[in-house]
Amino acid sequence: MTTILAIESSCDDTSAAVLRDDCLLSNVIASQKVHEQYGGVVPELASRAHQQNIIPVVDGAIRQAGIDKSEIDAVAFTRGPGLLGSLMVGVNFAKSFALALGKPIIEVNHLQAHVLSHFIRNEQSPGSNPTFPFICLLVSGGHTQILLLKDYFDIECLGTTIDDAAGEAIDKAAKIMDLGYPGGPVIDRLAKEGNADAYQFATPHIEGYNYSFSGIKTSFLYFLRDRLKEDPDFIEKHKVDLCASIQKTIVGFLLKKVERAAIDHHVRQVAIAGGVSANSLLRCELQRICAKHYWKAFIPPFQFCTDNAAMVGIAAYFKYLKGDFADMSLAPYTR
Ligand code: KG4
Ligand code: ZN
Repeated sequence: MTTILAIESSCDDTSAAVLRDDCLLSNVIASQKVHEQYGGVVPELASRAHQQNIIPVVDGAIRQAGIDKSEIDAVAFTRGPGLLGSLMVGVNFAKSFALALGKPIIEVNHLQAHVLSHFIRNEQSPGSNPTFPFICLLVSGGHTQILLLKDYFDIECLGTTIDDAAGEAIDKAAKIMDLGYPGGPVIDRLAKEGNADAYQFATPHIEGYNYSFSGIKTSFLYFLRDRLKEDPDFIEKHKVDLCASIQKTIVGFLLKKVERAAIDHHVRQVAIAGGVSANSLLRCELQRICAKHYWKAFIPPFQFCTDNAAMVGIAAYFKYLKGDFADMSLAPYTR
């Protein structure tokens, strides 16, 4: 049995988790509320909040797991990509903690961690993992990629966004409508009451499996600017329809390329991961498409969609099995 303490601090969530092999014992997340008033993550405030949160979060994870520090076999952490100041807090804490325990460290790539979250075992996901090869749509506030997984660490990127990430576009649409930050969950909630066919927003024609979201965002902005000239209360009156329509546009665009990629690569298992995979329409539509083709859909439990340390722990566990430990001299990377 291997016990791993994992730390995630790449953006605005401070999280620590304990895993025994692939089984999750605890996963503590402190989300930073300080950014809401600024309408986006302020890097300096994020690193400061990580510094305040890291000790209580790690302490909480160890206590909830019901283990003693001496039982930890390795300390894992997100090395990147992310915000440098935020990453530094997690990386430095993990190194010092491991040094004090006399245990090795394991560095984890944040994107690999999101994708490998499908292999975490707990009460919510007791054992139905995807098997290789499978396709995973990784959609978050910072990334939008279609990945072909041939093994845990043999991952081919089939397509990526050439500009904004999907989550970024959703958050910007929410910001235009003054719905607060992060807007993804708000749009999701309001969209449930709206008519998704009320408005049409054009999606760009991009080569292959790549995406582009900046045009959708701009067409949404210009559409509203024109309507607001005629009726200053337009957004307020049509909020739920606007949310439903923009959500349908983005989800449709995302899944059309995923479906194409799975057909072209003869893959019969499709997963989603990252913060936007919490979106109810995306989850529902993936199920529908997979059912149509007799494919298997893999949808993560909500707690593993947005940033968390459990996913860092599972990625680290597979590295531990390979003896893939990191050197104490390593530094975080932002990209
Ligand atoms: O993975 P994540 O926590 O952080 C990054 O690595 O970026 O993803 C955060 C993103 C934000 O853009 C947020 O608005 C979006 O995930 N998000 C959602 C939902 N929940 C979170 N987007 C749409 N619907 C949701 N329910
Ligand atoms: Zn993330």
